[in-house]
Amino acid sequence: MTALLQSLGISSSASGAYSDKWLKGEGAKLISTSPINGERIGEVRSVSDFEYEAIIKTASDTFKEWRMVPAPKRGEIVRQMGEAMRAKKKELGALVTWEMGKISAEGEGEVQEAIDIADFAVGLSRQLYGLTMHSERPGHRMYEQWHPLGPVGVISAFNFPMAVWAWNSMLAAICGNTVIWKPSEHTPFCAIAINQICSEVAAKHGFPGLFSLIVDADGCLGKKMAADCRIPLISATGSTRMGRSVGQVVAGRFGKSILELGGNNAVLIMKDADFNLVIPSILFGAVGTAGQRCTSIRRILVESEVEADLIKRLVSAYSQVKIGDPRENGTLMGPLINERAVEMYKDTIAKIKAAGGKIHCGGNVRTGMASGLYVEPTIVSVPKDFPLMQEEVFAPIVYVVKITGGIDEAIDINNNVPQGLSSAVFTKDIQKAERFLSCCGSDCGIANVNIGTSGAEIGGAFGGEKETGGGRESGSDSWRQYMRRQTCTINYSDKLPLAQGIKFEVN
Ligand code: UN1
Repeated sequence: MTALLQSLGISSSASGAYSDKWLKGEGAKLISTSPINGERIGEVRSVSDFEYEAIIKTASDTFKEWRMVPAPKRGEIVRQMGEAMRAKKKELGALVTWEMGKISAEGEGEVQEAIDIADFAVGLSRQLYGLTMHSERPGHRMYEQWHPLGPVGVISAFNFPMAVWAWNSMLAAICGNTVIWKPSEHTPFCAIAINQICSEVAAKHGFPGLFSLIVDADGCLGKKMAADCRIPLISATGSTRMGRSVGQVVAGRFGKSILELGGNNAVLIMKDADFNLVIPSILFGAVGTAGQRCTSIRRILVESEVEADLIKRLVSAYSQVKIGDPRENGTLMGPLINERAVEMYKDTIAKIKAAGGKIHCGGNVRTGMASGLYVEPTIVSVPKDFPLMQEEVFAPIVYVVKITGGIDEAIDINNNVPQGLSSAVFTKDIQKAERFLSCCGSDCGIANVNIGTSGAEIGGAFGGEKETGGGRESGSDSWRQYMRRQTCTINYSDKLPLAQGIKFEVN
């Protein structure tokens, strides 16, 4: 497999410190192993405090140049980054699979998501629109414009080791910012690979310091970034625990943050739902990525009339899921990311049993596999007030709750968790669907009808409410967060009238 690293121009003993060139990497060494079989991918030298300072300086200096490049020209450079990622889609996808463990189709899908946001950003680079307003004063004009912020800090998680960086970086770049990325310590090679591909394009155009990289062995540099006034915006994706601490520190210095944190996503299955849509949607949402998406389905709220049928069909579908090497054709579920994740899975299953949850299938760690990280996707029936259901566990465990009070009860249970990322209803009844989407419906940032909770397209704003953090990344007008708004009033008359009719004159 070192051939894969070579095809991406990376050595298996790599530096994780990039400013406008690869630095030595003077921090602690990090060993990256594949969750598939424990194979050693390589070692990465992390960033020292001294190198951190050099990276911040380069990102700040490059910003001063990059912000002067007209936005459509920045877009053209991002277009070429999209092309460069396209040219290496297979290799990058394979690296995601190797280092993170998601199946090949999802690994390549993740790279496609990075390419899609690059394309989106290219178009946006000609659409960073501000409004104009009519002034109440004669001979005056008012408008607002958007300026870049500075170096943007991106903190990302292991489960989307390339796409989430791209969501942030492609937008930040067309907006005129530079980017400083601290990836997950579990997926440093994914970060090195995609950062290198895009940095080479930036370097060709004279901006080698556009995207820098901080591989951090122990989380200290992430904390440092959060507290660093030279980084005006931190976009953090990961656990609610991490986001709470980052968000508080950034707010304490009046910095901006975009937080995209935990989810606890439910699908509501009404009795008229089309099961030809329901079963594959739940399979992808709850089993896909081994339940390690922030958008994974964690709860199924089903009307009592169809509960038994749903469980029967789901158990049958689950029994056909091929668990194993995610690189093999036909595999639908690869390993969890590490031992800690497996411990969490085991611990949750033990707690479910102790609390009286009824396990329909799964619940075990698979033995005889290439590593100890393969677990069975699990379906559990629980009452609606089951306390464990309040927590997000990054594993393929889904709770089924029986509903007898129709759509309103289902909406109540959907909303009765601390997180608010994604949600979906399955129904053919337009009244129920619209109720779910109305202001008294789902309280989540994403609300779908007749599709699952995961697998969002890049074109919409992505993120959620409550403990999910409130941030929006990716599509729609998320770009505005990477810029500062300036309101401008221009007097083209030879008088000086004051607003609100105030007279303030000396005789
Ligand atoms: C995440 O899990 O942090 O909607 C991101 C989805 C993907 C992104 C997930 N497009 O499932």
